[in-house]
Amino acid sequence: MVKFDVVSFGSGVVDVFASTGVGEKNGRLDLEVGGKYLIDGLRFDIGGGGTNVAVAFARFGLKTGCVCGVGNDSNGKEVLDCLKREKVKFLGKVGLGKTGYSMIIDSDQHDRTVLTYKGESNEIGVGDVKKFKSKWLYYSSLLGKSFETQKILAEKFVEGGGRLAFNPSSYSIEKQDIRKLLKLCYVLILNKEEGEMLCKRYKTKGTILEGLNSLGPRIVVVTDKDKEVKCYFEGSIYSVVPHKGKKVVERTGAGDAFAAGFVAGLLVGYSLEDCLKLGVEESEAVLGYFGAKNNLLKRKLK
Ligand SMILES: Nc1ncnc2c1ncn2[C@@H]1O[C@H](COP(=O)(O)OP(=O)(O)OP(=O)(O)O)[C@@H](O)[C@H]1O
Ligand SMILES: [Mg+2]
Repeated sequence: MVKFDVVSFGSGVVDVFASTGVGEKNGRLDLEVGGKYLIDGLRFDIGGGGTNVAVAFARFGLKTGCVCGVGNDSNGKEVLDCLKREKVKFLGKVGLGKTGYSMIIDSDQHDRTVLTYKGESNEIGVGDVKKFKSKWLYYSSLLGKSFETQKILAEKFVEGGGRLAFNPSSYSIEKQDIRKLLKLCYVLILNKEEGEMLCKRYKTKGTILEGLNSLGPRIVVVTDKDKEVKCYFEGSIYSVVPHKGKKVVERTGAGDAFAAGFVAGLLVGYSLEDCLKLGVEESEAVLGYFGAKNNLLKRKLK
């Protein structure tokens, strides 16, 4: 059996970026129901948290596997081709449903609105995951059957001495009980809103960092857009400030990129400060370019 440095388990979808030139009104896209609009630009990419971080890890020279679910359709083939090209071993499922699809709608202010269809991403059963050995497992948010599989797999994996990293998103915090994964995970990475939501939901005490830490993870990292990133480990706080005035071309995948950089650093034994710096550098590479993967760093860490 191949031994991986890290296996990523999350979604694999086709991202469609539509630059619409549509204005914003009261924090909403200003579109007329029944209207027909010509748009300025269209780009297709492979996205989804599972494949985004897998490609980031592989480009760092880590032996990487990816558990994701796709359909037996042309979009699914595109996802699998992307993983192959990036030297990531596919360990997931090709199912009978549709491959997930994200429509990323850019306004004239370059703010994005995302409509996501999860499709086969949420249909991964325990038996669909190919057997693997790995030191680390990285989870991004999945729902339904795939979430149940994540819980079962994590328990076995952590019992066997592996380390789990977890990057939940707001919908997974709202819709499901993620406490079991929080207990099992070694490092939790999320943004400030998600952190606040979790603390409120589970009525934790103290600061957000302390509250999240009390739910299980040894290391907690909270990002906050271009503001200071905070990391909590054994009662101490470490932090890094992203570069101000960074040119943001398109922000899809910034959170995934940060988390992948941070975890890759941990994996190769960096100090927490250096892990934070690598996370920031990776996210800035993605922010400065279109798409969640195209500009991920190519740098061998080991
Ligand atoms: N405007 C910005 N300028 C500089 N860096 C940024 C900016 N936005 C995000 N970043 C970098 O990306 C990291 C993650 O961003 P953020 O806190 O927005 O995560 P997120 O909400 O999880 O993102 P995503 O929507 O991609 O999941 C930040 O810690 C920072 O390093
Ligand atoms: Mg995020």
